[in-house]
Amino acid sequence: MSGLVARNLNMVPFVSVEDMMKLVLKTGTERFIQELAGYIRDDFGRWERFDKTPRVGSYGHEGVIELMPTSDGELYGFKYVNGHPKNTRDGRQTVTAFGVLADLGNGYPMLITEMTLLTALRTAATSALVASHLAPKGSHTMALIGNGAQSEFQALAFRSLLGIERLRLYDTDPAASEKCKANLAPLGFEIEIFRSGEEAVEGADIITTATADKRNATILTDNMVGPGVHINAVGGDCPGKTELHRDILLRSSIFTEFTPQTRIEGEIQQLDADYPVTEFWQVLAGTADGRRGERDITLFDSVGFAIEDFSSLRYVRDLVGPTGLYEELDMLADPDDPRDLFGMLQRAAARL
Ligand SMILES: NC(=O)c1ccc[n+]([C@@H]2O[C@H](COP(=O)([O-])OP(=O)(O)OC[C@H]3O[C@@H](n4cnc5c(N)ncnc54)[C@H](O)[C@@H]3O)[C@@H](O)[C@H]2O)c1
Repeated sequence: MSGLVARNLNMVPFVSVEDMMKLVLKTGTERFIQELAGYIRDDFGRWERFDKTPRVGSYGHEGVIELMPTSDGELYGFKYVNGHPKNTRDGRQTVTAFGVLADLGNGYPMLITEMTLLTALRTAATSALVASHLAPKGSHTMALIGNGAQSEFQALAFRSLLGIERLRLYDTDPAASEKCKANLAPLGFEIEIFRSGEEAVEGADIITTATADKRNATILTDNMVGPGVHINAVGGDCPGKTELHRDILLRSSIFTEFTPQTRIEGEIQQLDADYPVTEFWQVLAGTADGRRGERDITLFDSVGFAIEDFSSLRYVRDLVGPTGLYEELDMLADPDDPRDLFGMLQRAAARL
């Protein structure tokens, strides 16, 4: 049991951004990512137990709002998340999120939490978990293209799970790379900033792309990707929003989270609907091959899947209880007689 139980039936524990920051800092960011990766690995290990559906998106001109539900038959979780690449121009973030964990037994929410930080942490944890199974052995250098909100979390996850210490940064906005370097250099990374993606990927064992642009961009062209590299493609996650040239996909072994969703949103939207790909859980289960050899290009076509958020919600539920880093929200009507909802409203008139 998590120890996270609200005092009264009307109350739901709520983790604010402030409390999430305290929780992450108290735990240590790298340890948090490592433990979260463990929860994701465990849930990917019981893949068959989950309801799985591509997320439900509402697509606007400037971006998307998505709902990401799943359940393992005992717990239910969902995340609300947006993706609006132009948001940073007026001080808003590209991605924000919040989520709910609920008891499928009685339908009551057990936890509501900010998930903007949690999404960055879980995306990084998933990327590094996947890379720890697919990247070339002894990888020590990662090119990081797109140095916005996700980038530092990716770097920390790859250090935590794979020991990556050397980073080669590129962003079309040099200020983003400078920000990323200023945040990460004090943490002990060896960092160089480059003026082009071509320069940044030179000699890298792993290439992470985490750019935001609402179109089919070409962050990596075919000639930029040599044999043996692992590509962690994070930013292509919406219909009409990709990062890699199609020819790279044709040379790679492609790994997905939940393929029906990735066919809609991922890099593989550029390929035929029956193009062969491998779901990562199969590699974990030992029923599919991972990297096939030293010269194999492995590509994680990341879009972000509901089970990763479910794992994050479970992790936070288990972690936060003893810390007290939450408040309780009066979220659920709780009449003395459960069938007398109207009476509760009427009686309240006297005091409200
Ligand atoms: N796969 C997942 O699970 C997942 C999760 C979260 C976010 N994302 C996606 O990751 C991407 C990055 O998210 P973020 O929150 O860091 O966004 P952000 O807006 O904070 O940062 C994106 C950065 O990319 C840079 N950029 C844009 N075009 C570029 C180009 N052509 N070459 C190099 N750099 C370029 C921008 O200057 C910016 O610094 C987004 O597309 C987001 O939708 C994916």
